[in-house]
Amino acid sequence: MKKKTYIIGNWKMNKTLVDVEDFCSSLTKWSMRGSSHLEVGVAPAAIHLPVIRMGTDFSVVAQNISSEENGAYTGEISASMVSEYARYVLVGHSERRMYFNETNDILVKKLILCYKHNLIPIFCFGESLESREKGDYLSIIKQQLEEVILSVPFTSSPSFATRNLVLAYEPVWAIGTAEPASPDQISEVHDFVCDLLINKLGKLNDYVPILYGGSCNSENAKLILGQKNVNGLLIGGASLDCDHFSQIIKIAHELY
Ligand code: PGA
Repeated sequence: MKKKTYIIGNWKMNKTLVDVEDFCSSLTKWSMRGSSHLEVGVAPAAIHLPVIRMGTDFSVVAQNISSEENGAYTGEISASMVSEYARYVLVGHSERRMYFNETNDILVKKLILCYKHNLIPIFCFGESLESREKGDYLSIIKQQLEEVILSVPFTSSPSFATRNLVLAYEPVWAIGTAEPASPDQISEVHDFVCDLLINKLGKLNDYVPILYGGSCNSENAKLILGQKNVNGLLIGGASLDCDHFSQIIKIAHELY
């Protein structure tokens, strides 16, 4: 079975309500929700999740959930709350790891809550510049996946894991730098992750999509999406402008 292509925009802490509404009405003509081969999604700030849900026909992605189920955690938003609006949630984004001290233990708790509340995690992983330069990036990536994804009890059940998981390779040095990883660098890591999943989960890993993220735009989307084992893009800066994002969707559509 050929995997779907995912084009996911991560808006981070950007856009006002008016911006979100404008974007949604313009993007609707491009989105291909329901198409069997292309899934378009956007991840707005949590406060705008209801706007996306009500006004659009593409997939809703949350940027974050709390690692706690409910209770006295002022300012937090739980997986069950998010699941009323979103289908996917980003887990393990490097900005959350770096600025909010999210450790692997916290990420495991979030994944368990995703599965409990029917949210599909888009699990982000990737090495720092230091690790890339040192050359130990594959072992760092292996560790990130083994300590989180492969240690969640549910993911040891291949059929469950492979139908409810999206991975996103995002080298930290490529995020927001206008310097994407090269096709060879992307392929090396994606192939490595595929082999790792085959070893750990068995053949069913064929269904786990692996996206690439880090300075993707309409100029490089075709090249990156053309690499073997790249099943989509997680796009930050270039997803903020509707015309630009639409161009990338169009490229993905044409490539299939
Ligand atoms: P970027 O961000 O496309 O702006 O590099 C990607 C991301 O952080 O998901």
